[in-house]
Amino acid sequence: MAEVTRERWTSRYYFLFAAIGSAIGLGNVWRFPYMTYEYGGGAFLIAWIIGLIVMGIPWMMMEFGMGRYFQRGAPGVFEGIGKKWEWLGWWPVFMAFLIVTYYTVIIAWSLRYAVSSATVAWGAGEAGVAGAAPYFFGEILNLSSGPGVLGGLQWPIVGFLALVWVALFFIMYKGAGVIGKVAVWTVTIPWALLVILMIRGLTLPGAVDGLNYYLTPDMAVLGNIDVWFGAFSQIAFTLSLGMAGMFAYGSFIAKKADVTNNAFITSLSNCATSFFAGFAVFSTVGFIMQALSIPVGEVSAAGLGLAFVTYPVAISMMPAAAALTGIIFFLCLFFLGIDSAFFLTYGGVISPLMDKFGWSRVKTTAIVCVIAFLIGLIYTTGGGLYWLDIVDRTACFYGLLITGALACIVVGWVYGAGRLREHLNETSDIKVGAWFDWLLKVVVPAGLLFVVIYGGFMKDIATPYEGYPLWAASMIWVILAVTLGLSFVLQAVKTKGPKEVSGE
Ligand code: PFF
Repeated sequence: MAEVTRERWTSRYYFLFAAIGSAIGLGNVWRFPYMTYEYGGGAFLIAWIIGLIVMGIPWMMMEFGMGRYFQRGAPGVFEGIGKKWEWLGWWPVFMAFLIVTYYTVIIAWSLRYAVSSATVAWGAGEAGVAGAAPYFFGEILNLSSGPGVLGGLQWPIVGFLALVWVALFFIMYKGAGVIGKVAVWTVTIPWALLVILMIRGLTLPGAVDGLNYYLTPDMAVLGNIDVWFGAFSQIAFTLSLGMAGMFAYGSFIAKKADVTNNAFITSLSNCATSFFAGFAVFSTVGFIMQALSIPVGEVSAAGLGLAFVTYPVAISMMPAAAALTGIIFFLCLFFLGIDSAFFLTYGGVISPLMDKFGWSRVKTTAIVCVIAFLIGLIYTTGGGLYWLDIVDRTACFYGLLITGALACIVVGWVYGAGRLREHLNETSDIKVGAWFDWLLKVVVPAGLLFVVIYGGFMKDIATPYEGYPLWAASMIWVILAVTLGLSFVLQAVKTKGPKEVSGE
């Protein structure tokens, strides 16, 4: 392989912002607060912090550390461990690609809603309470009767999706230097917007009741396996690991720079953001409970339902600054999403392709953006939401967990956790002890496999996922098998590697 000068973050802070921005995403706002409420409030936080320490942080140190050591993205790292492992770097590349095809569609919906918020298009007051769901499923999605009926494209969403991809192209085509600078904004802007949303939430009537639901601890739940499932699955999802991208982000760090500290800072900032976002979300949930006189269980507080139905209901009923709050909320989602999207696309896909084939950055970026946009059109059809859900289950659940567990096993046992630890300790103020080896070799894979078996296989093998027709639910296994096969094909392809890169 020709000797190259690896592209670099131009400052440590740019790297940190890019890594934090990739981790902070929609999940911090629409998944974490709800999981906390669902699984025992303050008690869930204990399980979640344990998950962070025993699973999240060592796993992140592994991805950053291996990327930095080999100065390559995921496929290059596994090829470096042994030629026969290269496929294990490509499989998550496919997963990252699949995720970004629909993640960008959700970002496009957010932009559409930022515009709709200006006039509260789903209706103000009582009309909005009744109108928010039909607006989303009817007007925006034109939802069909099932995954077999695609229907036509929803052109406004296609337009916003194109806009998102154009923006992503311009952020990415110059590489890590520009990505780091952009990330400073895409992290600090949503932080600022979350502060505003939190203040708005806390000043609404009923806010305190919502916060009580969010945080009141129910210690008895710690004996319940579902709580541990919830905590570990959230940690796996929230840190953006298992997606190939963090290897590449780590590979842009100079060989002498610290990794361990940065893994701590990244994961702790991400988790602090989640905790904080819970105040913005649950104060608003409390407001809805009081305004509509309904119990908390009837307020849909998670996922797409929270963002595109529940929150719009709250906006309709707000006594003041309704439209402005809506605009702020959806712009916040946009900024939260965009840096996870360029992380997945650049770190997850573009950088590994450049490593392997030596293609130019501009060309690779353009090709990847266009193909991802075209595939994303599926999710802008009437049946798109069903496919979004199925592909999400495939890539962001199974893909992430399975490839993450395998990666930790191969690095831990084949490459050697001790070797990695020495490499980490050479440049870090925080010296990690032998405990790290066992976390990486045993605890992280066991935690991930527990989640995938308990929350995945045990459900989806017995009955088709979410009650979809069998052929549609089976696409989960088909996509996993095909992408695994393609990963072996890529491993078999011989290339000369990247060309000499100068001036970077
Ligand atoms: N970590 C992101 C979140 O919590 O929203 C979600 C995500 C983004 C997961 C990118 C995986 C990924 F590669």
